[in-house]
Amino acid sequence: MDKLTLTQPDDWHLHVRNGSVLKTVIAHTANQFARAIIMPNLKPPITKVNEALNYRSEILQALPVGTSFNPLMTLYLTAKTTVNEVKKVANSEYVHAFKLYPAGATTNSDAGVNELKSIYPILEAMQQVDVPLLIHGEVSDNACDIFDREKVFIESSLANIVKTFPKLRIVVEHVTTKEAVDFVLSASDKVAATITPQHLMFNRNAILAGGIRPHHYCLPIIKREHHRLALIKAAISGNPKFFLGTDSAPHLTSAKENSCGCAGCYSAYAALELYAEVFEKENALDKLEGFASFFGADFYQLPRNKKTVTLQRQAWTVPASYPIDNETITPLKANENLSWKL
Ligand code: DOR
Ligand code: ZN
Repeated sequence: MDKLTLTQPDDWHLHVRNGSVLKTVIAHTANQFARAIIMPNLKPPITKVNEALNYRSEILQALPVGTSFNPLMTLYLTAKTTVNEVKKVANSEYVHAFKLYPAGATTNSDAGVNELKSIYPILEAMQQVDVPLLIHGEVSDNACDIFDREKVFIESSLANIVKTFPKLRIVVEHVTTKEAVDFVLSASDKVAATITPQHLMFNRNAILAGGIRPHHYCLPIIKREHHRLALIKAAISGNPKFFLGTDSAPHLTSAKENSCGCAGCYSAYAALELYAEVFEKENALDKLEGFASFFGADFYQLPRNKKTVTLQRQAWTVPASYPIDNETITPLKANENLSWKL
């Protein structure tokens, strides 16, 4: 097969930042995807509907002229989130969900939630008006081994949230473990998960392959091979609980190649190509369209896209970097070859 035509996909988990980074990365995403769920972890975080609307306008203004792309906004849950804000989200055409970061779990999560039970009244309100909850599923306890933080979060927090709010739609974002896959499989159809390209492509050896590889460092951190295999199985299963969310998270090269490098992989430049590589290796290209173009839209109760995109089999080399002002962003798989091109 040398050509693959799919319904245009959407990215159900994306960081686009603001300012000059936004300008570069949004063009990459809009070139591939019709819509994307935009993460609210800016500095300061997007916690109110009016802030999300301003951020949305900034994103639309940053698009290359003539591009059509629909940013689906989210709000950052904090201890100060009110039931009134939940109602505003329910009535908003542009804001689609709340994102829960346990405080300290990842980049710009300081404003996140310390005591999850304290926001249960907000989750109750979200359940009532059917606004989805998107979860960064890791405990932020530094005493917990970094490779166990997702599993421990599921046992210590997520299981209780799901049990207490059985009608709340929940996306367990960027699942990285077999435990997370099994948890999502065992839950009702209200619980789904996104899977990133890096967690499908790599196991944890990729972070320490002949030296420290900062561009493979993201959170939740990439796990052992048997976890990767469980993610692959979920992604290619055709089960609508699992769908595409790149978690493309650009940081300047100088912030990644640093004595304390930031977490995040930049994949938006060729997201669909990266997933296509994975699905092809598994002989499952026929399962890519459901994962990339149907299941997320269905879960978010949005219409499936009408347009199509075509991937061509074509070898090309990923650039070493993309320029941003006087700096650069280094993409995932920089200088390596990919075999599909949109
Ligand atoms: O690796 C990550 N980067 N994980 C996250 O949860 C946040 C993200 C970012 O914003 O850079
Ligand atoms: Zn993310």
